[in-house]
Amino acid sequence: MRVLAALLFFILPCVAPAQSPPRQQDEHSWSQPDKVRIRHLSLDLKVDFSRRELRGYVDIALDWQDEKARELILDTRDLQIEKVLAKSGSSGWYRATHTLDPADPIFGSKLSITLRRQHEVVRIRYRTSPSASGLQWLEPSMTAGGKHPFLFSQSQAIHARSWVPLQDTPGVRFTYSARIRTAPQLMAVMSADNDPAAMRNGNYLFRMPQPIPSYLMAIAVGDLAFAPISERAGVWAEPATLESAVAEFADTERMIEVTESLYGPYRWGRYDLLILPPSFPFGGMENPRLSFITPTVIVGDRSLTGLIAHELAHSWSGNLVTNASWKDMWLNEGFTSYVENRIVEAIYGTERAEMDQALSQRQLRDELAELEPGMQALKLPPTPGRDPDEALTAVAYDKGAWFLHFLERRFGRERFDAWLRGYFDRHAFRSITTDDFIADLREHLMPERPKAISEAELDEWLNGAGVPAFAEPTESARFAAVDAALGQWEDGVRGAGGLRTAQWSTQEWVRFLEGLPETLPPERMTELDAAFRFTGTANPEIAQRWYPLSIRSGYFEARVAIADFLKRIGRRKLILPIYSALAASPEDLGFARKVFEEARPGYHPITMASVEAILAKAEAEAGGAGIQPEPQPQ
Ligand code: BES
Ligand code: ZN
Repeated sequence: MRVLAALLFFILPCVAPAQSPPRQQDEHSWSQPDKVRIRHLSLDLKVDFSRRELRGYVDIALDWQDEKARELILDTRDLQIEKVLAKSGSSGWYRATHTLDPADPIFGSKLSITLRRQHEVVRIRYRTSPSASGLQWLEPSMTAGGKHPFLFSQSQAIHARSWVPLQDTPGVRFTYSARIRTAPQLMAVMSADNDPAAMRNGNYLFRMPQPIPSYLMAIAVGDLAFAPISERAGVWAEPATLESAVAEFADTERMIEVTESLYGPYRWGRYDLLILPPSFPFGGMENPRLSFITPTVIVGDRSLTGLIAHELAHSWSGNLVTNASWKDMWLNEGFTSYVENRIVEAIYGTERAEMDQALSQRQLRDELAELEPGMQALKLPPTPGRDPDEALTAVAYDKGAWFLHFLERRFGRERFDAWLRGYFDRHAFRSITTDDFIADLREHLMPERPKAISEAELDEWLNGAGVPAFAEPTESARFAAVDAALGQWEDGVRGAGGLRTAQWSTQEWVRFLEGLPETLPPERMTELDAAFRFTGTANPEIAQRWYPLSIRSGYFEARVAIADFLKRIGRRKLILPIYSALAASPEDLGFARKVFEEARPGYHPITMASVEAILAKAEAEAGGAGIQPEPQPQ
């Protein structure tokens, strides 16, 4: 028998030519959805702040796909699996055997459960690790109120497996329910049916009746209060942050209405925002019914609410129509960036939408200059050994959105809008690939105007590197004025104080800062700082650009503010450029390391890992032989 198997092993590849795996296959999950799929998860977890662990069990209801299958393979990372049980119908639980493989550094440990029959439900008792990559446990001192601890999850892309054993792939959708127990003075919320009027008693029940992929599983626990924005929208935040958040995000209901008028009804019931502590590693996360939002966009003038438009837009692009694997991430982020821009246009006007587009296009150009050509296509090749978080580039977001703006222009807004609305309907609650998108485009949009785009153009957008030469950049009159002002200052025609900046929005300041040269002489930095008070700014978009410039320019006056910023904020987009600027010079590297060691306990595990990677690389390069131990004398 074994001989036969070995023979077949050698012969088969010759008989059947090696086939590339189907596009929907997710190389970042151990699971085998063609054999069995999760239909429903039922969680029962205790939140233990003193041990920094979630513990309890999950009941997994299964849909068997292959009648021969008897094995359930799940993704886990750093989970302690205590017991696995299985049952069907009203029979009792029986103990199932399982094996947990050694951990892969990127994908975690494969959990294989062998069943006697195709059981309906599997129960796994487990506990999480204090360093779970998808959870951050905050001391009270790291919260706005300072009195209570805080916990939040961040599951995208493949971190759900660090707090729930599951099929951690966006190609599998399931419903869930949960019972979460914690201290009675704390409130728990999830990406589910949060009840604004829920009694605060430490025992909370949730239901998510629409099927979602694993990366949208989310939980947060802390001293959370609720305030409404409208009938169906509101804000959860620590009491100290609630009022300013409600004021900043007051346009949320109008944003929902605009998106519904463009793309059809909002299908998730309530839409609330959860404002997290500043260590939240992202700007926002589109957890269904409850977007997770960084507090760093609360700047007082609603200039950064594009973030809310973005996370809301995911309720159509991403949460409703989902990329089947992270190779097709542009289906989530490119569509969402496009829809975000349409919402911004409707609420804040064409000028702001154009400015956002122009910033995004320039950002793309800068990032493409650093990115290997193989990662520049919208339709990405499979990269089995790579962390999917690395697909998180401007390509998915900015090139994706630019492509859709291109289609809109070629087909005309009316036809394009009708198509996009239909696309969301046709694929609602499904996980799809770029090939499904192409098929939909061919069937439902291209026949509307057969000559609007050519096959070669389509191919170049989806599979080519860089931005097609025929793509038209967005012009912004407001930015033309900023560029003119910048030119006058650079040419010495006007001093910084003489520039007409009084009415500038965040977007115009960003354009100005991005237009400055790589470095400036210290006296020019002093002049800008005196005129515009950049150092210590409350606007993180300005800080994110001013601080790296000040580091490159040797402008030491900003150092105290930089250290303060890095210790207070953990949002990666804001702080990584600053660490990178510091890491670029051996003299600043020591400062970066020192600040990082102090800031580190307040960082999220993924922020910690990203900063460590930047500094360790720079230290290895700078130190070289210097740090190597001296050869010992014989
Ligand atoms: N879904 C993303 C965040 C994300 C992507 C987390 C990939 C983990 C892996 C979210 O919708 C997002 O795009 N956030 C942006 C906001 C922005 C582009 C307006 C962010 O956090 O900066
Ligand atoms: Zn997004």
